[in-house]
Amino acid sequence: MTTTTPATPNESPTRSDVSHDAIENLSREDRAFPPSAEFAAQANATAALYDAAAADRIAFWEEQARGLQWEKPWHTALDWSGAPFAKWFDGGKLNVAVNCVDRHVAAGHGAQVAYHFEGEPGDSRDITYAELLTEVCRAANALESLGVRAGDRVAIYLPMIPEAAVAMLACARIGAVHSVVFGGFSAEALRSRIEDAQAVLVITSDGGHRKGKPMALKPAVDEAVAASPSVRNVLVVKRTGQDVEWTDKDLWWHDVVDAQPDTHEAASFDAEHPLFILYTSGTTGKPKGILHTTGGYLTQVTYTHRTVFDLKPDTDVFWCTADIGWVTGHSYVVYGPLANRATSLMYEGTPDTPHNGRWWELVEKYRVSILYTAPTAIRTFMKWGEDIPARFDMSSLRVLGSVGEPINPEAWMWYRRVIGGERCPIVDTWWQTETGGIMISPLPGVTETKPGSAMTALPGIGAQVVDDEARPVGNGGGGYLVLTEPWPAMLRGIWGDNQRYVDTYWSRWNGLYFAGDGAKLDEDGAIWLLGRVDDVMNVSGHRISTTEVESALVSHPSVAESAVVGASDDMTGQGIVAFVILREGVDPGENVVADLRNHVAHEIGPIAKPRQILLVAELPKTRSGKIMRRLLRDIAEHREIGDVTTLADANVMTLIGQGLDSANAED
Ligand code: PRX
Repeated sequence: MTTTTPATPNESPTRSDVSHDAIENLSREDRAFPPSAEFAAQANATAALYDAAAADRIAFWEEQARGLQWEKPWHTALDWSGAPFAKWFDGGKLNVAVNCVDRHVAAGHGAQVAYHFEGEPGDSRDITYAELLTEVCRAANALESLGVRAGDRVAIYLPMIPEAAVAMLACARIGAVHSVVFGGFSAEALRSRIEDAQAVLVITSDGGHRKGKPMALKPAVDEAVAASPSVRNVLVVKRTGQDVEWTDKDLWWHDVVDAQPDTHEAASFDAEHPLFILYTSGTTGKPKGILHTTGGYLTQVTYTHRTVFDLKPDTDVFWCTADIGWVTGHSYVVYGPLANRATSLMYEGTPDTPHNGRWWELVEKYRVSILYTAPTAIRTFMKWGEDIPARFDMSSLRVLGSVGEPINPEAWMWYRRVIGGERCPIVDTWWQTETGGIMISPLPGVTETKPGSAMTALPGIGAQVVDDEARPVGNGGGGYLVLTEPWPAMLRGIWGDNQRYVDTYWSRWNGLYFAGDGAKLDEDGAIWLLGRVDDVMNVSGHRISTTEVESALVSHPSVAESAVVGASDDMTGQGIVAFVILREGVDPGENVVADLRNHVAHEIGPIAKPRQILLVAELPKTRSGKIMRRLLRDIAEHREIGDVTTLADANVMTLIGQGLDSANAED
């Protein structure tokens, strides 16, 4: 069965209606990969989903919600009368933890593994659904014994260990609101998040294993909690056994949790009861506490996890490599997979410990069939070379996913060929902390994919690309990505600051959610993400996305990764400055810079030819792997480097600075 992907729901004007491009459409991609007949024949998704959602969007979402276990049915599927504050499945009651764990055990699947846990040092542990139920019940009892009640906030600051999922589920079970803070964040980042949410409890560990060493977490908690009067207790998981300071608020997890009864009566909560807050730092200002609620969120993450990854609960092993500190870890390590009764792999460490083939060794060991990761990881593996994955048996893989940044077409092709053995469909999934679940993505078995495109909005989701006046740009045009309809997993606001919610997402154009991303539509109406609009460059009046120039650079066989910024230029307004990492083993010979400049001009046009190309060993990235172009702009414009507190590796800027002193690549 071959089906073409339906175009975006709203009618688009033709190109001649549009005066100018909000963002230029420079690149062209002619490669396309239709689903194989074998995959399509067994796929969870069919093209009928698009028809059903187009016929009645709300009824479609109700149908998805019915896959969950509700204690009480909803009376109103969507109440949008208080827009932009949505209520989904209003009147309905359910318990998220019961949906993720209890119901599978009750249906006879207690012996199925929920998580294969692999620690970085090589320790491993399988946790069945029955064991997970016991753990979650004990933890829920423990939280209640510490006086945590429905609606209270609990901060979770843990490495990637099973207790992280248990802690989240225990909160959900008793209606407490979790705020997971990434374990790599500083004491001050933790403190400000505890304060903003007024958390009453912190769940942490002595430390975690990272890059071959125990990495302490407890000292940051001690510092944060000392300045946080709202915190009554700190529950500490023993993971590494390293020494810890002890305060009178501290309790060992094993002392408190293991002593609890292993059953727990779960109450149901309103569909709009808060489930979690997750802080996103954005580019400027105070982190925003993105608020998600229960029924709509679980509906969308469950539906997207089943259809986008084609999850077969009885046979698949699903591995989402994201940390639980990010929304991807919430939606596709914990809630979506568990609600679908998946068997997942959870890995504590980094891809290069103890060797650069660690991930592929794990794919072989656990027969991972679905792998969901980020472009930054894929580009790193490209840099390391394809002989590393070639040493492992990865024939179990059948679906590959990407999330977090635009994936350059050549990185997509590499992922497909080297990791997927040319047989696995790739789903490039666009979404945000704010959207809660996947919004734009191919459906494997249905969509003909193009390398680098997230393709179209999922059934039930409304997305458009518009110009400055909110007019749809039409096929072939570039502009701003907007969401045109409320969706079940949408954020319900910013914790404590609803005005900021309205201002940030809903004020640019009436009734449209502005995602902050640039995008274009190709001739067939497929959506190509072009990066954050703050990063768009203006060269001689042409608005050029960083993504297209970066992808052109990455399409050169010598290049593994690149980051492009606009630096002020007397002649052209802004000039394009590119930072490039070469693939391992490539000789940075004399001509490489000139070659690369010509290559970009040839691939996407002379207007996009970089003014300057700098060869570097590393790029500044956030801890979730996104390139921090803001800092590169500082370098390109010879400014003092700005705020580096969200940088994953503080040394990177020094390294890049040193590289610049010795190499002036301008020609
Ligand atoms: O710019 C888009 C980019 O990541 C942003 C959302 O980041 P965050 O809230 O941290 O969530 C990341 C995981 C969902 C988006 O506004 N982004 C995410 N996925 C893609 C992407 N850009 C292009 N293609 C994607 N598939």
